[in-house]
Amino acid sequence: MNSSNKKPHISNITKKEAWQIVLQAKDQYSNNKDQKSYTIKCNTQKNTLVCIYSKVKEKIIRKNFSCEERTENMINMYLRLVFGNEHPYFVGHIAQSLDGFIATKSGQSKYISSKENLEHIHMLRCISDVIIVGSKTVQKDNPKLTVRLVKGHNPMRLILDKNNELHNRYNVFSNNDGLGFKIISSKIKNNDDNVFSLPLHKRYFKLNDLNNLLHKLNKRIIFVEGGGSLLSKFFDSGYLNQLQICICPIILGSGKNSFLLKAHKTIPKLSYRSIKYHKMGSDVLCDITF
Ligand SMILES: NC(=O)c1ccc[n+]([C@@H]2O[C@H](COP(=O)([O-])OP(=O)(O)OC[C@H]3O[C@@H](n4cnc5c(N)ncnc54)[C@H](OP(=O)(O)O)[C@@H]3O)[C@@H](O)[C@H]2O)c1
Repeated sequence: MNSSNKKPHISNITKKEAWQIVLQAKDQYSNNKDQKSYTIKCNTQKNTLVCIYSKVKEKIIRKNFSCEERTENMINMYLRLVFGNEHPYFVGHIAQSLDGFIATKSGQSKYISSKENLEHIHMLRCISDVIIVGSKTVQKDNPKLTVRLVKGHNPMRLILDKNNELHNRYNVFSNNDGLGFKIISSKIKNNDDNVFSLPLHKRYFKLNDLNNLLHKLNKRIIFVEGGGSLLSKFFDSGYLNQLQICICPIILGSGKNSFLLKAHKTIPKLSYRSIKYHKMGSDVLCDITF
């Protein structure tokens, strides 16, 4: 057969290689933010992978590789975040049981969701510039909030600790990357290097003040990682640009609710721009963009 009739070789990429494309895209975007489309080139051990991402269509429009539909949907989901226009952009994620709980009554939540969802959480952390969590999540879980399951860098961690109750030995602060910070009430005196202060209004920080702080710090993608109390505040005040709820096939019967909101008299309508579903192991991620 004439070699010119040969079809170009299209390689089937792994999830790890797909992740390398996302990391490359993040690097590229930080250098040039004004294009309508981006050509992402990524050298793996075997190949040079190339794809073109359209910001207008919010997806890859051309590529020299193939992958499972599930992997391609995931790459597009991450690239939409990486190449987004909004500044800051708030994305919330919560993993809940079929009956709507994020932890047991005593606060245990390790591990409600699948290995695949945990890996996704680490990827979200890695794409983000800041992870925000509430103080109770740190008290109950003592999470590290690192990206140890995937390749990439840890982002800044911001813990809302209005009463300055958390000591610096918690994993989020003691990790030697020095990226653990907290926000306390401006009424409390504290000269630690890792502390920001904001005023409290009716017991809470105003999300507007928090937003201004994130602007000053020049942080764009903000990952609101829970718990339910904190995520509900962001949802209720219309701050979330995107909300991901991972629904896991377990029933807890009672426990910590995913949302703590005022009761509605009638069924409220949720207005959103798009909704997508991703299968993650035995879980389903419901991905809502507002
Ligand atoms: N399954 C998951 O995906 C997941 C993820 C994260 C955490 N968790 C679990 O969730 C549980 C913790 O959740 P949680 O809802 O109890 O607590 P949380 O959201 O982690 O933290 C709540 C604390 O933050 C305060 N707070 C909330 N909004 C604030 C604001 N705007 N300004 C200042 N302070 C604010 C609350 O104040 P008030 O007390 O005054 O209201 C409370 O002290 C843990 O058991 C953890 O394991 C599960």
